[in-house]
Amino acid sequence: MYKANDTRYQGATPRPVGASGLVLPPIALGLWQHFGSADPYADRRQVILDAFDRGVFHFDVANHYGDGDFGSSESLLGRVLATDLRPYRDELVIATKIGYEIHPGPFGTGTSRKAVLQGIDDSLTRLNLDYVDLFYAHRFDETVPVAETVRALDDVVRAGKALYIGVSNFDTPQASEAIALFAKLGTPFVVDQMSYNMFNRDVEATGLLDCLRRHGAGLVAYGPLSEGLLSDRYLNGIPDTFKIHPTNETTFAKGKDLVVARLNQLNEMAVGRGQTLAQMALAWLLRDPVVASVLIGTTSTAHLQDNLKALDNLSFTQDELAEIDKLTTI
Ligand SMILES: NC(=O)c1ccc[n+]([C@@H]2O[C@H](COP(=O)([O-])OP(=O)(O)OC[C@H]3O[C@@H](n4cnc5c(N)ncnc54)[C@H](OP(=O)(O)O)[C@@H]3O)[C@@H](O)[C@H]2O)c1
Repeated sequence: MYKANDTRYQGATPRPVGASGLVLPPIALGLWQHFGSADPYADRRQVILDAFDRGVFHFDVANHYGDGDFGSSESLLGRVLATDLRPYRDELVIATKIGYEIHPGPFGTGTSRKAVLQGIDDSLTRLNLDYVDLFYAHRFDETVPVAETVRALDDVVRAGKALYIGVSNFDTPQASEAIALFAKLGTPFVVDQMSYNMFNRDVEATGLLDCLRRHGAGLVAYGPLSEGLLSDRYLNGIPDTFKIHPTNETTFAKGKDLVVARLNQLNEMAVGRGQTLAQMALAWLLRDPVVASVLIGTTSTAHLQDNLKALDNLSFTQDELAEIDKLTTI
């Protein structure tokens, strides 16, 4: 029987999500890719439990996740929750999302009232939970009035099926509109989950970080390593098969050779700081308190443990920050 490591909270100081009472571990585990029905359960269980043993008490899924077998990432996490992590439920922050395809038909996607209210029940069933800690609208749905989505999310909280609400992939005007509506209803809205990494600064450039700060909300950063690009994996070249997330496509605008050159320069800098490139990339995201947590995706306990060492050095000099700005403007 699994028993959690007694020292699990010694390594990582939890961070507040905006001005709310919710806190998250600085580095959390996302189960988007390779945590589905086609993947080896025992290995994935090991990664989840290893993360929890090291203070990672936040796990992020979506009803759509599962590498094409929608819902199967939730089911995988649900199995670990029902067996190993049941005694630790009160310590965990479990997040899921609704908005991308989960089943055929008009209510199998998007954030209409019907999709949201039936979606949360289906997610809870797969997760083996009575409630999730954080429930997100996974995307802005242009076909539904924002007020309808906001009201449905608020009703999910009032029904006791979620404690906090977030949005994801909402740009600054979309987030501002939703936040104003949440405020009117008194919804515990706390976070926008967005793509953010050294190469992709959209959340800075568009004023989203400032907007969230102003409203007492936080940001959860996804894709912090740009699908593993910001690690020592591609220092000798990026293969043609490398799949970049749509939010990071502009990284390759001037060709892959320039990116490889920049990765090597960044890597040298990281080594000078006593870090790997991945560790520096994660630490860099945590330099701003508005970033409540950084979601890593990994199927490897070695990568997980390596990434968590980023927390050993979170400070940057102004010169280092300026150099990173220079090297990532490509
Ligand atoms: N809201 C949204 O729309 C949205 C979109 C995308 C992602 N997300 C969330 O964010 C999470 C993370 O996203 P992501 O998977 O794109 O993040 P990521 O952490 O930037 O990239 C994951 C990739 O990096 C590799 N990796 C991790 N640590 C490494 C290391 N130390 N050295 C070398 N390679 C390393 C992983 O390979 P290994 O498995 O081999 O470690 C994997 O291929 C997702 O699971 C999901 O929860 C949300």
